[in-house]
Amino acid sequence: MTAEIIDGHKHAQILLDNVAGELDHLSCAPGLAVVLVGDDPASHIYVRSKIRMARKLGLRGETKILPHSVTEDELLSVIATLNAQADIDGILVQLPLPAHIDTLRIMAAVDPAKDVDGLHALNAGLHGADSLVPCTPLGCLKLIKSMVSDLTGCHAVVIGSSNIVGKPMAALLLEERATVTQTHIHTRDTQFICRGADILVSAVGRPGLVRGDWIKPRAIVIDVGTARVARPEGGYDLRGDVAFEEVVQIAGAVTPVPKGVGPMTIACLMANTVKAAKARSARLH
Ligand code: GUN
Repeated sequence: MTAEIIDGHKHAQILLDNVAGELDHLSCAPGLAVVLVGDDPASHIYVRSKIRMARKLGLRGETKILPHSVTEDELLSVIATLNAQADIDGILVQLPLPAHIDTLRIMAAVDPAKDVDGLHALNAGLHGADSLVPCTPLGCLKLIKSMVSDLTGCHAVVIGSSNIVGKPMAALLLEERATVTQTHIHTRDTQFICRGADILVSAVGRPGLVRGDWIKPRAIVIDVGTARVARPEGGYDLRGDVAFEEVVQIAGAVTPVPKGVGPMTIACLMANTVKAAKARSARLH
C-alpha cells in the first residue's frame, strides 16, 4: 500500500478561506511589511509570493528592499519605523540576513505584537493562544493534525534544530503531548532514531536524506526541505529532504515537495497577520 500524499495546496486554501472570512469582520485591511536585505534570488521569489498572496487576500502588503551593504543600525532604524507605524500590523524580516548583521538582535527588535514570523524570543518561547507561532512549524502541525487529531504519546522526531523550523517545531509537538526527539548535525544515528518515529519532520535542506528504510510503517512524514537543484538544461527543481519514491511505499502519509509545506507557510503568515491585526485593534478599542 502506498502512503496518502498530503495536499498542501488544499489545506492552505482551507486556511486562506477562513482568513478571508475573518477579514470581512475587520474595519480596515491589515498591513504586512516584509523587509528584504540583499539580492538572494530565492529570498526575492519567496518575498514576492508572500506579498502577492497578501494583496490577493485583500491585505495591504509592502516590501522594503535594502542593499546587502545596509548596516545593522540602518536596519534597526527601518524596523523601529515599522514598529511605530499605525497602519502596519505585521513585520517579517526575510532570512537569511547578510553575515555582518546579527540576526538575533534584529529579531529582538521587532515589536512582539507585530512579529508575524513568530521569531521574537517572546513568541518563540510561548506558544499560548495569544502568541504568534512561526509559520512553517505551524503549517506542519496543521498538516500533521489533518491526519491524526490527537498526538498524545506519539513519538515525533524532528530532524534539524534551526531557530526558524526545528526548535519551534519540536516545542509545538511537545505541547501536543507527543514524545519528541530532535536530531541534528552531531546526532550519532539519526536513521535508527527515525525508525521509531510515528511522526517525522525533516527540516535540513539536504535532498534525498531521508530514505525509505528510515521510515516506520504507516508513519506521517513531513518534508520541510526545499533545496534548489540545477537542471542540466537550465533552471532548477525544488527538492525535499525525503527520497519520495522510496518513502511513499512505507509511510502512512507524506508531504510532496513542492506543493506540501510551502503553501501552508504562506497561508499561516496570512493567518498570523490577521491575528496580529485583530489583537492590536482589540487593545486600541
Ligand atoms: N527564510 C526562509 N523561510 C523563512 C521564514 O519562514 N521566515 C523568514 N523571516 N525568513 C525565511
